[in-house]
Amino acid sequence: MTLIDAARDVWARAYAPYSNFKVGAAIRGKNGEVFKGCNVENVAYPEGTCAEAGAIAAMVAGGETEIAEVAVIADSPIPVSPCGGCRQKLAEFGKPDVKVTLATTDGVVLETTIGALLPGAFTEDYMTRT
Ligand code: THU
Repeated sequence: MTLIDAARDVWARAYAPYSNFKVGAAIRGKNGEVFKGCNVENVAYPEGTCAEAGAIAAMVAGGETEIAEVAVIADSPIPVSPCGGCRQKLAEFGKPDVKVTLATTDGVVLETTIGALLPGAFTEDYMTRT
């Protein structure tokens, strides 16, 4: 199963009754294991969580903290673009050169990287004075 197939699999289970916009994300950890997440909305709208955040939470709960590859899928006209908060969350666990595949359920694919999604990312380096 490809990483996009894993993202598509969990996409179907997204809970998005308010936006009607389901998103699925799959992360391959450095150890090779695949972790999946979907968006989970709430009637109190700001309490909803993104697919990428769910996949990251599953990864960390599974004992992995290094992202090797990411795939995100949605039923969008063009490949779904991770929100700003999720870009920062991905940058926490993945190096800038980590491949991110963004896809539509129709099969349109855009390949990018964590670094390209978040240029000038805030990192721990900014907090270190030598
Ligand atoms: N959403 C994600 O889960 N990931 C993204 O990359 C973009 C947006 C979700 C949040 C919300 O449940 C719905 O899509 C509409 O914004």
